[in-house]
Formats: sequence, C-alpha cells, structure tokens
Amino acid sequence: MTADLLIRGARPYGEGGPVDLLVRDGVVAEIGQGLAGPESGETLDADGLVLLPGLVDLHTHLREPGGEESETVATGSAAAALGGYTAVFAMPNTDPVADSAVVVEHVHRLGEEVGLVDVHPVGAVSVGLAGERMAELGTMAASRARVRMFSDDGRCVHDPVLMRRALEYASSLDAVIAQHAEDHRLTAGAQAHEGVVAAQLGLAGWPATAEETIVARDCALAREAGARLHVCHVSSVHTVAVLRAAKAAGVRVSAEVTPHHLLLTDAALTGYDPVHKVNPPLRTGDDTAAMRAALAEGVIDVVATDHAPHATQYKDTEWAAAKPGMLGLQTALSVVVRAMVEPGLLDWRGVARVMAERPAELGGLTDQGRPIAVGEPATFCLVDPDGIWTVRGAALASRSANTPFEGMRLPATMAATVLRGRITARNGVVAPMDAARDGKVVA
Ligand code: DOR
Ligand code: ZN
Repeated sequence: MTADLLIRGARPYGEGGPVDLLVRDGVVAEIGQGLAGPESGETLDADGLVLLPGLVDLHTHLREPGGEESETVATGSAAAALGGYTAVFAMPNTDPVADSAVVVEHVHRLGEEVGLVDVHPVGAVSVGLAGERMAELGTMAASRARVRMFSDDGRCVHDPVLMRRALEYASSLDAVIAQHAEDHRLTAGAQAHEGVVAAQLGLAGWPATAEETIVARDCALAREAGARLHVCHVSSVHTVAVLRAAKAAGVRVSAEVTPHHLLLTDAALTGYDPVHKVNPPLRTGDDTAAMRAALAEGVIDVVATDHAPHATQYKDTEWAAAKPGMLGLQTALSVVVRAMVEPGLLDWRGVARVMAERPAELGGLTDQGRPIAVGEPATFCLVDPDGIWTVRGAALASRSANTPFEGMRLPATMAATVLRGRITARNGVVAPMDAARDGKVVA
C-alpha cells in the first residue's frame, strides 16, 4: 500500500499540540509526531491550522437540472469544496423536480462525475412539489442514489393528511422528512418579516407564526407516527420554544439554522436590495440571539446553508419580483465563527458537531462526520483560524453572486479540504479535476 498524503502539524478540533496524520488509501493510517512523508503523494503543511471533519450540508440548492443559469452540480460542488464541505444534500426543487428515481440518480451521477463532494439528492415528498400526491419515496430510497431525506423545500407540505402519510412512509424507509415550515395561507404575498422594518418599508409581512404553527403541528404528527422530522431553516424565537418542548417530550425532531439567520436581521433590508430577500425572511435581533442560543444548547441541531444561487436576472430587479435565496457554501464557516465562536458560544469541537458530525448522522451518512482517528476516512477540512478575508460575490465559485455578505471582512479562511485522502480544494483553488463542465471555475 502506498501513502497518498501527509498532513503535517495540524491541530485536531483546535485542541492540544500539533500532530501529523499519514493517509493511506483514503484512510487515516497513523497519527503522531514527526511522521515521515509519503514515498509518493503529497504533503500538506498544516502549521497553525485547525483540523475538522469535512463539513456536511443538509440543505443545498444545486439547481441542476433545469436551473443551470444559476448553478450547476459542478459549480456548486466547487463552492462546497472551497467552503470546507465534503458532502451536500441537494434539494429537489429543480426542473424537472427530483421526485423520481430517474432524476435523483441523474443528480447523484453528476455529483460523482464532478467528484469534489459527495452529492446526496433529497427526494421530493410530493409529485412535482405540488403538495397533492405523494411521490414514490420507496423507489427513490431503493435507487442508486439511496435517498434518505425527503423534502418539498421551497414549499411547505401543507396538507396534514399528506404530511402524516409521508412521515409514516419515510419511517418505514428509515428516512427523514425535512419540512420547509411555512403556512402559505399566512404568508400569501409576504415580502419580509412582519414587524417594524416591513411596516416602514411598505412590504407585506411574513408572520413568524406561519413557521411556528406548522412546526407545532408537524411535531404532533411525528410523535404520533413515531417518525423522524427535520425542520429546515428555523428563523423564529417562538419556533425554538416549540422545538424545546417537543424534544423534551421525546419527539424525534431535529432542526437546522442557516448562517444568515445567525448573523443578519431585517435591519439589512432598508436599502431594498433584493440580495437580502430570503425565505424564511431575515428577522429581528431577538430572533438571531435565540438562534445562537438554541444552536449552542442543541435545541437546534445543525447549521445548514440553504445555499440558494440565483442568476442576476432573478435578483437585480425590484424587491417584489426578485426570487428569495442567498449563497451560503463558501461563507458558512466564517459566518459561524463570527456568530458563534467569537462570542464564545461554540468552540471548534462544537463547530465540528453542528457542521459535520450531527448533519452526517441526520443524513444517514456513515462515512462522513467521523472522529479524527486511525482507521477513519481521511475526510477533513483545514481552517486557518487567524485568516481574515473580504467576501466578493464575483470571486466565489458559484455561478451566481448573490451573497448577502458582500464586502464584509470575515474571520477564518479555508486552507484545504480533503475527501477520502484526496485534496479537493487548497488555498482557494479547487482540485485540477474540477469543473470540467463549467468555465467559470479556475483550476
Ligand atoms: O430563500 C429560499 N430560497 N428559500 C427556500 O425555501 C427556497 C430557496 C430557493 O430554492 O431558492
Ligand atoms: Zn426552504
């Protein structure tokens, strides 16, 4: 057996002294000090870098098939690798919708061809995301894509009868239903968080109760079915209270928060720049504070990006016409450092938990989010905790540029990402096998 990689002088979880890791055949073969470099293969100088398990994103919009003007599997995978991710869950609101074995297998295969991150397709709950008939969850689960998460994200599974059946059926497949919790009757025409800012700007309000009530209903349905429910992009302080009570009562519910709901508030909307339009909307400082506390406490389990690329024509328009959504993959870690690590709410061990270990567990991945130990897959990211960078949408690997963090100076830079012993990104550049399918990504 040949060694493929030596990582020299990294600090696992930012704890203890620096160690070397020798990687052979994609697996950690030795951890120690002063290890000899590989006869063949590469050495990664990780002096001063924090070593974490590769990040896992439960909520990514890759847009392919059908939305290639905004993102492709290739450009989205490049953004993911550069952001420290080694696996992403691709949401099904594509065109055609990923509601059949054919489409999920197609997306899965595209992910394999690009090879920068493991792409796990999320299957739709309802045919065409129409919220009426249940999609064939079983055939998607049995397909080559082995789907274990189903969601109508972008839309809420509104019909309680459909939601109840989907939970029961998913349970028999050992799968989870990820709900975009929004009572569409309460948010009809909504453009921004219902509150003072929306009133001042003359934008129709999206009441937080539209999220809270669906989460309460779904927790009851999940309890009754003994099924697993995952709540996408929690945004309201009131939803946290519902989750806390449900978890205390033993309901099998998990939840995610996005980086933007940890850091940004509706105060950002005053310039009417649609880059800040997102669903659920940016809310108040009380809400961001509640998101941070709930994530630190574990009431919210994970950070998920809701990476939602939109081409210029969908964003450079008046507020009401603009599509909701913002980029997330390349900025997530830095935003989590700003919102959680700097204020002392999470340490690096905690970051590994909410961005890698727990997402892998919830997504049913057995080879991601693993401990940093001999015999485990060499699937990592290496963070420079002292790095500082300025976000420029045009410089991101995504095919779109709709970042709400434009011009911000953020802490922590991603030095390298390693997937099963192979470097997929290093110092802001994706591996040479990148992006065969798109010219924007520079090797
Ligand atoms: O802002 C959002 N954008 N929220 C969603 O739920 C869907 C997403 C998208 O697909 O653009
Ligand atoms: Zn959503």
